[in-house]
Amino acid sequence: VAFARDAAQDPAPTGPQPGAASAASPEGVISVEVTADKDGFVSYAVSRLGRPVIAPSRLGFLLTDARKLERAFGILSQTVASHDDTWEQPWGERRFIRNRYTQLRVELQERWGLMRRMDVVFRIHDDGLGFRCEFPEQPNLTTVSIGAELTEFTVADPGTAWWLPAFEYNRAEYLYNRTPISAVGVSQTPLTMRLDDGTHLSIHEAALVDYSGMNLRRVEGGKFRAMLTPGLTSAAVVRQTPFHTPWRTIQIADQAGGLVESSLILNLNEPNKLGDVSWFKPMKYVGIWWDMHLDTRSWNSGPKHGATTEYTLKHIDFAAEHGFGGVLVEGWNVGWDGEWFGTGWGYSFTQAYPDFDIERVAAYARQKGVEIVGHHETGGNAFHYEKQLEAAFAQMQRFGWHSVKTGYVADAGGAHVTGPDGEAHLAWHESQAMARHHQTVVETAAKYQVAVNAHEPIKDTGLRRTYPNTITREGARGMEYAAWGQPGNPPEHEPNLVFTRLLAGPMDYTPGIFGMETRIPEGVATTWAKQLALYVVIYSPLQMAADLLENYEANPGPFQFIKDVAVDWEETRVLSGEVGDFVVIARKDRNADQWFLGAVTDEAPRVLTAPLAFLDPGRRYRAEIYADGPGANYATRREAIDITTREVTSAKVLTLRLAPGGGQAIRFVPLGSARR
Ligand code: NOJ
Ligand code: CA
Repeated sequence: VAFARDAAQDPAPTGPQPGAASAASPEGVISVEVTADKDGFVSYAVSRLGRPVIAPSRLGFLLTDARKLERAFGILSQTVASHDDTWEQPWGERRFIRNRYTQLRVELQERWGLMRRMDVVFRIHDDGLGFRCEFPEQPNLTTVSIGAELTEFTVADPGTAWWLPAFEYNRAEYLYNRTPISAVGVSQTPLTMRLDDGTHLSIHEAALVDYSGMNLRRVEGGKFRAMLTPGLTSAAVVRQTPFHTPWRTIQIADQAGGLVESSLILNLNEPNKLGDVSWFKPMKYVGIWWDMHLDTRSWNSGPKHGATTEYTLKHIDFAAEHGFGGVLVEGWNVGWDGEWFGTGWGYSFTQAYPDFDIERVAAYARQKGVEIVGHHETGGNAFHYEKQLEAAFAQMQRFGWHSVKTGYVADAGGAHVTGPDGEAHLAWHESQAMARHHQTVVETAAKYQVAVNAHEPIKDTGLRRTYPNTITREGARGMEYAAWGQPGNPPEHEPNLVFTRLLAGPMDYTPGIFGMETRIPEGVATTWAKQLALYVVIYSPLQMAADLLENYEANPGPFQFIKDVAVDWEETRVLSGEVGDFVVIARKDRNADQWFLGAVTDEAPRVLTAPLAFLDPGRRYRAEIYADGPGANYATRREAIDITTREVTSAKVLTLRLAPGGGQAIRFVPLGSARR
């Protein structure tokens, strides 16, 4: 590669110059300052209520075939604009979202040499900000091969961080580290921090489209630098101008719950491009699934095969009887025999095993008003899957099935993607190539009215706003770790998830396990009441009742809550919470006049208070309470649950007693309304 040498280092006396630009959020809570110094370095700083949160932090890019974009910039112009509108989610954790921000655009240009252009755009909300670099079309910058993004985030104060290690073989499926900020290594995002003064931060990204996923490498003290997921060559990202990076996001709140209530990530994504997606209805589903994780049945063919016609019809009957919208059937299709993990070459996404009569299943499900949730495990082989996408989704559409669970089970770096040469190449799950793959899947699925729930996915960056058939995903340790994890999920896992992974978007966590025996000694490390509370605490428009049917049939009392709980919400409020310790969330049903509350704790028992001010004043409600019973404990007495009802009004403050690893779930129904 020949590097263009700069003709002269003498900046022009006119044109881009060193300088500064600044703007503040609509209510003045957050302000941003951008500077281009005399050496051409560009940096930004963020403060909240006048107090620095992000100290001056540089921006720039290393290119693999041209001089870096970092050290020659001056400011060409700056513009400030304000925006305020409210938009409606087709489904979601709340119905209406206000998008109100100040936009600061700083046009930058190199002052010498190639005179390349790059703009940095900030959208400053009162609860955080996003910024991105935009590269206009220009003669000296056409193909941009990004070796490294140099964006920094210098956290201004010491504090505590909750983080997942990046670039490890098991992708996002790790237990959270809780360390001083100054002890973070290389972290995935969202990276959540609590500064010593109580300010809470979360750094993530929004609208990850045709770019590689960003991780954060701590350089020194509280200074982090973007570390892009590697690509197929020495460049992590290859794009043509004009293009822009995803938004780099910083949510800022004075309480942990403020991070959860923020809609910043969604607001930074573009509006719905699919139009009417009412063919997808948020729903609960049961499935042939936990059996395989317990190893009592198998995905592969043979005597233990789970996905038989008979077993599926039984699930359809159960779903119809108890009001579930869907039945997930894993292992229905050819390709599971032999090695599928990390290979996936044998999968057919249309051909069923002989003991799964797909036409009969489809007809029976349709007659019973239940949908089959499609299952496309790829073994991480996106290349192979892409060749069958159209046929697979066309088949689903023919059967009237509107959601699919995909899977990419392969070690990090071991996914197969389609390269520029049209051949299969190994890649990381959050590489630019995989970002493109997920985009292709979602767009193709939309053509056939199918919504996608990806496991071992690329991280969620709020694209559900733009493509509302992007419904939910995994992307963290799910309930399956309670079946076979080494170790399983500890009681702090869910209060960690709420303030970390779930800030990115919905998760298909698959709660609802009453069964006591799993393949690990610690089993499911929550009480039954906490399993119920997870339906409220963990947001997903597709929510599984993950246990074996017989465990629900044997426990109609607690099962009633799983049947009653809503999956689509008008409003969401975080009543209280601390990262990794506990959280109390109330949500209003979008389709009925009722509220739900979920509270979960870590291994510590707690007495929490929940003011019911979210209920309509002046009305009386029946509270159906599922609380930890006497002696309840995640390790020794999971099943102790007290189910009671009482009358309450919005003036009431409830006392919630949570057992170690416990929780509480409540349904509030206005008195005088029909029960169910
Ligand atoms: C991993 C998924 O998370 C799990 O839910 C699924 O059962 C297996 N892969 C097989 O696809
Ligand atoms: Ca998984």
